[in-house]
Amino acid sequence: MPRIILHSGKGGVGKTTTSAATALACAKYGHRTIVLSFDLAHSLSDSFDIDRDLFDQNKGLPFNVTPNLDIQEIDVQEELERHWGDVYKYFAMLLTSSGVKDVVAEEVAVMPGMEDVICLLYLNQYVKEGKYDVVVVDCPPTSESIRFVSMTSTIEWYMGKRFGMDRNLLKLARPLAKLADYGALPEDSYFEAIKNLFHRIEGVETILVNPEITTVRLVTNAEKMVVRETQRAFMYFSMYGLTTDGVVVNRLLPQGDEYFKQWVVTQTKHLGEIEEYFNPVPVTKVPLFRDQVIGLKRLEEVGEVLFGKKDPAEIRVKGSTFQFEKKGAKYVLRLPMPFVNKEAIDLSRQHDDLFIRIGSFKRHVPLPRAVARLSAEGAEMKNGELHVTFAKEK
Ligand SMILES: Nc1ncnc2c1ncn2[C@@H]1O[C@H](COP(=O)(O)OP(=O)(O)OP(=O)(O)O)[C@@H](O)[C@H]1O
Ligand SMILES: [Mg+2]
Repeated sequence: MPRIILHSGKGGVGKTTTSAATALACAKYGHRTIVLSFDLAHSLSDSFDIDRDLFDQNKGLPFNVTPNLDIQEIDVQEELERHWGDVYKYFAMLLTSSGVKDVVAEEVAVMPGMEDVICLLYLNQYVKEGKYDVVVVDCPPTSESIRFVSMTSTIEWYMGKRFGMDRNLLKLARPLAKLADYGALPEDSYFEAIKNLFHRIEGVETILVNPEITTVRLVTNAEKMVVRETQRAFMYFSMYGLTTDGVVVNRLLPQGDEYFKQWVVTQTKHLGEIEEYFNPVPVTKVPLFRDQVIGLKRLEEVGEVLFGKKDPAEIRVKGSTFQFEKKGAKYVLRLPMPFVNKEAIDLSRQHDDLFIRIGSFKRHVPLPRAVARLSAEGAEMKNGELHVTFAKEK
């Protein structure tokens, strides 16, 4: 089974650097590795110091850097044209017919979230093909990486509930649209393309929540605001069923420098907090290097700090993200949810699904048949885990 290692964190903390260093270390360790970026503001190729012209000729496909190591910066525009011409054409046409100029329309037709979908497609493809042992992913800043993991539920919902309806509506609307001389309705090929896309993405959600395959590594700095965002990311990833198996505290300043004295005090304080919060997730410290980390040599140095002689792809925490336990006639759902108070959690049921809502984020937990027959009796937080007890209705 291949490994997927996602890197997430606040803007500028060192995600690309950590992803690149991890991928290089994996390749050196002997794993066939690809490092993939789906941040629209790509910088992976810069991190490896690759000639931009040469790289651009590759049009978003994997590019070999060293033995065992490919890098890929997803090019949404290219992907859309390559695989989903019909979906793309429809959106571009809609925009042009609404008065947006052709060139602008093509740019805008890259819908928000498309890069997430394309990244998921590639992950699915790479896991199924077995061409790589490790897929390292350089995610965009936190909020967008969370959209990425929730995208699978959105797509499933759309295909399950809306797709058929939209297609039927279109069949009814087309003759009327012709009468009204309004041409901007999608062709059947548009729906075929979406269906095809769905098939290629199917199954990726089980890959993401499988702790034997996918883990998240959170990159952070030892500063108050960055730490807060890292905690939130940890919680949301767990809510979506993903396992976090590492926290990288990047850019720690050297001791003994007069100018940075107060910074060192601040960083030491937050580092302590981080180690306490994320326990038992291992925390790795990376110093601020003497210069920016660009090119293979520097990345290799970061890799050494991160992993030493260890296998960089090794899964560093044990256990799954949620589980059901049978207790007599009752079942308990255990879901790790660090940093959440019970008051903030809202539970609701719909058929065989339990919906957990925290603020604007939702997570649904599909209930096994034996549990779905029961009702949720109560919920409580225990040592950073949400426990929901299911029992027969009295
Ligand atoms: N430990 C370090 N020592 C020195 N420079 C570093 C270190 N980590 C990262 N950098 C430098 O900091 C800059 C930002 O790092 P990087 O691009 O990895 O951050 P990022 O989290 O991917 O940013 P973005 O959110 O914009 O994608 C780069 O120039 C990188 O070389
Ligand atoms: Mg980056």
